[in-house]
Amino acid sequence: DSEEDLKPRPPVVTVMGHVDHGKTSLLDAIRETGVAEREAGGITQAIGASVVDLNGRQVTFIDTPGHEAFTAMRARGASITDVVVLVVAADDGVMPQTVEAINHAKAADVPIVVAVNKIDKPGATPDRVRQELTEYGIIPEEWGGKNMFVDVSAKKRLHIDDLLETILLQADVLELKANPNADASGYVIESKLDKGRGPVATVLVARGTLHPGDTVVAGTSYGRVRALIDPRGEHRDEAYPADPVEILGLNSVATAGDEFRVFEDERDARKLAEERALR
Ligand code: GTP
Ligand code: NA
Ligand code: MG
Repeated sequence: DSEEDLKPRPPVVTVMGHVDHGKTSLLDAIRETGVAEREAGGITQAIGASVVDLNGRQVTFIDTPGHEAFTAMRARGASITDVVVLVVAADDGVMPQTVEAINHAKAADVPIVVAVNKIDKPGATPDRVRQELTEYGIIPEEWGGKNMFVDVSAKKRLHIDDLLETILLQADVLELKANPNADASGYVIESKLDKGRGPVATVLVARGTLHPGDTVVAGTSYGRVRALIDPRGEHRDEAYPADPVEILGLNSVATAGDEFRVFEDERDARKLAEERALR
């Protein structure tokens, strides 16, 4: 894309960290909803995407599971994101999946904002968290480093506005842009077979604009988009860069992490998908 094709786009922010350090609770505080309480066993099983409007600015948030079994999902989360919010519980400190999240963010060259969570707890030691993170090259700005830190309590809704402001500051530095006037492409972030709706792929649009009626290939799946549904459950006539959206109409269940892209010619799409399926 040439410079003049590029338009400002919203940031994609992935929330990562050790199991039970409060990632989903923090997103709940941000969205003022109650997702963590409804999760089976309180454990995030999938990458959940949501869109938040902050004073007229869109931010796309991606939740990730902290359980050790979900390494691949965290790697995927880091690679499709602009900013990682690293959640570290102030009563627990740096743990194995904290370190793993740092490594994924570094590998993807994504800036890290640290949310030191659970500061309401009696055993909270936020400065110890700062100290521990220096060992991994995560150094607070107030100590001469380049990482922004915010102490929060997801549960008591403390300093959530500060955190959001910090995320926007970090995003502004990046001057994020994409070409919206192109055939859409991006990544599959979740995929499932829905009893009533058939194969459903949640994709994140990285470039271009996606429309119902477009022909799409996602890994070894292909099809004509029957409907686009946003995280609020609303049908959409288009999805833009940084929008997460469900695609209905694929012929099979796509694989999370696969790239998707729009094809002009349905036969080309089918041919590519079928060739890939044979490999
Ligand atoms: P996984 O998705 O399983 O990795 O967990 P998570 O990081 O999303 O943590 P979750 O939001 O499920 O919270 C784990 C537990 O910590 C829950 O019991 C929350 O109520 C609790 N919790 C989260 N944030 C806070 C906080 O700020 N203060 C206190 N006291 N408890 C919190
Ligand atoms: Na949890
Ligand atoms: Mg969670």
